Amino acid sequence: MDAVPSTPGKFKTERAYYQRLLLQRWIHNHRLFVSVLIGFAFLAVVLLLSPHPSSSLTSSRRHLSTYGHAPWGGPAWEKHVRASASPRVRPSSSRRSISVLVTGAGGFVGSHASLALKRRGDGVLGLDNFNDYYDTSLKRARQALLERAGVFVVEGDINDPDLLRKLFDVVPFTHVLHLAAQAGVRYALRDPASYVRSNVAGLVAVLEAARSATPQPAIVWASSSSVYGLNSKVPFSESDRTDRPASLYAATKKAGEEIAHAYNHIYGLSITGLRFFTVYGPWGRPDMAYFFFTKDILRGKPISVYEGPDHTTVARDFTYIDDIVRGCLAALDTAQKSTGTGGKKRGPAQLRTYNLGNTTPVPVGDLVAILERLLKVKAIRKVMKMPRNGDVQFTHANISLAQRELGYRPTTDLHTGLKKFVRWYLDYYSRSSSLGKKISGIGGLSS
Ligand SMILES: NC(=O)c1ccc[n+]([C@@H]2O[C@H](COP(=O)([O-])OP(=O)(O)OC[C@H]3O[C@@H](n4cnc5c(N)ncnc54)[C@H](O)[C@@H]3O)[C@@H](O)[C@H]2O)c1
Repeated sequence: MDAVPSTPGKFKTERAYYQRLLLQRWIHNHRLFVSVLIGFAFLAVVLLLSPHPSSSLTSSRRHLSTYGHAPWGGPAWEKHVRASASPRVRPSSSRRSISVLVTGAGGFVGSHASLALKRRGDGVLGLDNFNDYYDTSLKRARQALLERAGVFVVEGDINDPDLLRKLFDVVPFTHVLHLAAQAGVRYALRDPASYVRSNVAGLVAVLEAARSATPQPAIVWASSSSVYGLNSKVPFSESDRTDRPASLYAATKKAGEEIAHAYNHIYGLSITGLRFFTVYGPWGRPDMAYFFFTKDILRGKPISVYEGPDHTTVARDFTYIDDIVRGCLAALDTAQKSTGTGGKKRGPAQLRTYNLGNTTPVPVGDLVAILERLLKVKAIRKVMKMPRNGDVQFTHANISLAQRELGYRPTTDLHTGLKKFVRWYLDYYSRSSSLGKKISGIGGLSS
């Protein structure tokens, strides 16, 4: 009967008091368990409120995934990376082999340069995001060629700092040949942000990874003849002004040269910038004039041949791919070591800029005439004023500095180089049943 409350309210108060008492005693007896519980709850709240929960999860997943499947990571993937980047042992050779990270290896210049390095016994690892700026099947075909030669091309973006750090952790690269970029001049009208992402932010990401690496590699990277912009004094020399770009592409390459200066100055990175002049050849870029002229001439489609004001000539210093590759390799071979360690500069480091051109500008009309002879097809020419979309009227390289310091000597004239291009083109596209699908011409004279 004592348990029966005199009023319901009194029962509630007594029961609550009793329950509180029991709870206090339980907590007292299980102090350790309660502390652990509170700790877990706190951890859960912190994880939920963390600003980048997905990135940390993604990166740990990445490290678990195995080679062959993007994303990257795992012991088999690392083994493949190491094997590709290891130089061949050549005891008799006087030249010390190097280990090179080639960014943009799925691209035109990157694939040729990677093959040339591998052929002479250097270690090469490629990196490319295989973006669809132009036909990705052409990039994949280049990748297959590289794989057959023993060059592994990691699929990833230069803006991924975890991936870059991992690559430098796995391989002590002596050099980086940085060619990944958003190329082309006219495409900036459609996607300007891609130029900032790859050519500015991407370059900074590569230089950041390089300056933190031990050892710090020497960097050779692709600038462009487009930095000469609206200059009218020819031929273009490295000491000429470069502060009047005619396109966003040119502006990002110019920005790259200034960024290179800052990283050389602050971190002691050895950096060489190469200003390529309109590179052409087999496995070339479908967005360039010599490439899509060939396609259109063969299809009987009209081609637009530009002229300057008052019917003046538009001309380019067309440079054959093998000459460019020899220039890249000479720049790598003559690059001094970076001087920094642990992200800190230990002394002044090399900073160089070279023109890599052919020194023989050819009017675009003559380019078409050579293609007509090689293809044995008459082009349907539509002569028109050059639109103001970023292209410049004339390029001509003074290469005496590269000649003196790199031993650079271009040896291929436009007719010989185009003959090799046309032979490759006919062979490559005759193996494809759907010519149209393989080529996506975006259009542009140079890059
Ligand atoms: N071909 C020329 O006439 C010419 C002239 C002057 C300068 N260049 C420069 O030379 C370099 C190579 O040019 P190319 O003609 O071989 O061009 P390309 O487009 O064939 O090669 C560039 C490669 O970089 C890759 N890439 C782009 N952004 C990337 C990113 N964020 N992360 C990873 N990979 C990325 C692309 O997928 C592509 O395969 C570029 O820097 C270009 O600006 C070329």
